[in-house]
Amino acid sequence: MTKITLKNILEKKQQGRKITMLTAYDYPTARCLDRAGLDIILIGDSLANAVLGLDSTTEIGMDVMVPHAKAVARGVEHALVVADLPFDAYQPAGADEVKNARRLVDEAGCHAVKVEWFQWCDEVVRSLRAVGIEVMGHVGLTPQTAQEFKVQGRDSSSAQAIIQQAKLLEEAGCFAIVLECVPEDLAREITQSLKVPTIGIGAGKFCDGQVLVLHDMLGLTDRKVPKFVKKYTDLSDQIVKAVQLYKEEVEAGKFPGPEQSFH
Ligand code: KIV
Repeated sequence: MTKITLKNILEKKQQGRKITMLTAYDYPTARCLDRAGLDIILIGDSLANAVLGLDSTTEIGMDVMVPHAKAVARGVEHALVVADLPFDAYQPAGADEVKNARRLVDEAGCHAVKVEWFQWCDEVVRSLRAVGIEVMGHVGLTPQTAQEFKVQGRDSSSAQAIIQQAKLLEEAGCFAIVLECVPEDLAREITQSLKVPTIGIGAGKFCDGQVLVLHDMLGLTDRKVPKFVKKYTDLSDQIVKAVQLYKEEVEAGKFPGPEQSFH
């Protein structure tokens, strides 16, 4: 398999071929996603909720993101690797975003960083692009600053605001934009109006690509998952069953058997 480039991602939009993206937070899952042939692997700050059991993505910083980003990048040969800039790594704007983004690219080995919309987000993107760092944007529901976790852009003024934010991020130099939790028609309008690809999560089928949180789509969580998640398997049930079987076999003296023993 060849290495996916930003050019390939843009070409997929131009050719009407869907872009595939999922999150990963560690080496073994990054290996699986890469072997499955995904285009983009995101070290999302959803790491906070999905892996660390925290309530908010704002509870993690660069100290947590960098080692996870390194582990994922180490496992990937083919996909484009993007890491979320944690909230306090670029807010307030102008603070340390370039230094922090450089750590994710130069030290961890990621190809790009992702930033969530906030008032000065396009300025942050410009300062990162000025030093050659590739950036993915994120509008709609932006968990780092959201007051309420609900569908965004249902009325015309908030829909216009999201359209405007997506345009500003494209103009500032983002190579792709995540649209989270917006109505399908709004996502279609944004997708048609941008040259760069949109990657939807809870944004319907007209986006140029799709992303989900890995642990949600694998059923590796006992949290309630949002309506837009499709569970492709139920890994937590499978893990519980495997662990119960191990426990039974150890207790019954069946494990280890002759095949697992040295003679
Ligand atoms: O942190 C994350 O997992 C994300 C995706 C939901 C796009 O930002």
